[in-house]
Amino acid sequence: MESTRLVADLTGAVPDFASDPYRLFGELRENGPVHRAKVLDGRECWLITGYEVAKAAFTDPRLSNDPQFLKAWDGLGRNVIGRTLMMTDPPDHTRLRKLVAREFTHRRVQSMRPRVQQLTDELLDTMLKGERADLVDAFAFPLPLSVICELLGVPDADRADFRLWSADLSAPATMAAGAAAEAAMTGYLSDLIGRKRLLGGEDLLSALVRTTDEDGDTLSHDELLGMAFLLLVGGHESTAHMIASGTLALLRHPAELAALRADFSLLDSAIEEVLRFDGPVEIAALRYTTEPVILAGTEIPAGEVVLIGLSPAARDHRQFPEPDRFDIRRGLRETRAHFAFGHGVHFCLGAPLARMEGSVALRTLLERCPRLALDTPESALEWNPPTFFMRGLKQLPVTW
Ligand code: HEM
Repeated sequence: MESTRLVADLTGAVPDFASDPYRLFGELRENGPVHRAKVLDGRECWLITGYEVAKAAFTDPRLSNDPQFLKAWDGLGRNVIGRTLMMTDPPDHTRLRKLVAREFTHRRVQSMRPRVQQLTDELLDTMLKGERADLVDAFAFPLPLSVICELLGVPDADRADFRLWSADLSAPATMAAGAAAEAAMTGYLSDLIGRKRLLGGEDLLSALVRTTDEDGDTLSHDELLGMAFLLLVGGHESTAHMIASGTLALLRHPAELAALRADFSLLDSAIEEVLRFDGPVEIAALRYTTEPVILAGTEIPAGEVVLIGLSPAARDHRQFPEPDRFDIRRGLRETRAHFAFGHGVHFCLGAPLARMEGSVALRTLLERCPRLALDTPESALEWNPPTFFMRGLKQLPVTW
């Protein structure tokens, strides 16, 4: 039996891990595809770093999304908001997903494009009145936040609080900070659901409150809460990080930027390359072993946490030739094999929306700012958080 050779330190203690996680992930991957890992508060789990093992793990029924199987960590990590798609296995997962999937089809998403374009134009009108701006604050965050809040019917006035809790939830500095944000968010969403139930409305959350499929199925309060949470948080933060890190990748690679400006038919493959090269979600949602499993020769007991590494897999040279090269001309077939949106039954429900927002945002930004440039030395850029899961730029100062 092969044993794991390195313990992956994902606690934030490794210098420069936030700005360049690929160095550590690469060292680990070249030592083997499965490792013991240390995360927040010193808890231990397992990390998959190889592409093929990650792909198999996504469809391995012995790796469950249901926290009832968690025995390690004294059950901590089990408390999340409501009952979400990401915490259920088929057939429950199939049932829940069916109730929302129709809202996120490619066709449905394309019908939102004019509104996304309008929001993009308005944000850029405001930003471009000045001479410089923080692109994260002025554009990359407000765009997807407005899109998903409008879709679900979150009032304008609540969005600032919402953004703060959301940041603390997906990238908590400590377990306690995550728990506080979780309590605030649960209270807020329960209240919002109550209001939708009472007042009704044309938005998606109101529709979900009323939802009944052809079999007469409805969502319980916990399921509604989970769904609202997942869509709102999943729906803006990762997309915001993608817009910011995509802009940065293009600015750092002038030949790629020039190629895109010269031929916007490369836009779709540029978005996929951004997702592969520097995708915002480093690690998939927690998986729990339902029984002892052997992954690539490493034995993992039952009840343990397994992290499927999306960023490490994206730089596996066995799958992607010259993986550390940012190349928007790789071709969709090659690039789309990335796991930035996961793989298997939990594949990101919002992928068509995220791709559409990314392409409207990047194209409009480049068209309106022919001289877009970084307004800070690259070495001064800071990334959030110092740990794992979701990763994005804190700020991206630009001029145009
Ligand atoms: C660039 C933007 C995005 C990225 C990189 C991303 C990434 C992911 C990943 C990696 C997963 C699968 C996690 C796993 O298997 O453990 C996922 C699932 C999910 N995402 Fe996204 N996401 C993005 C945007 C969105 C948007 C815009 C929405 C909502 C409108 C959304 C809603 C969801 C939902 C509901 C799931 C759970 C699906 C399920 O469990 O069946 N995501 N996302």
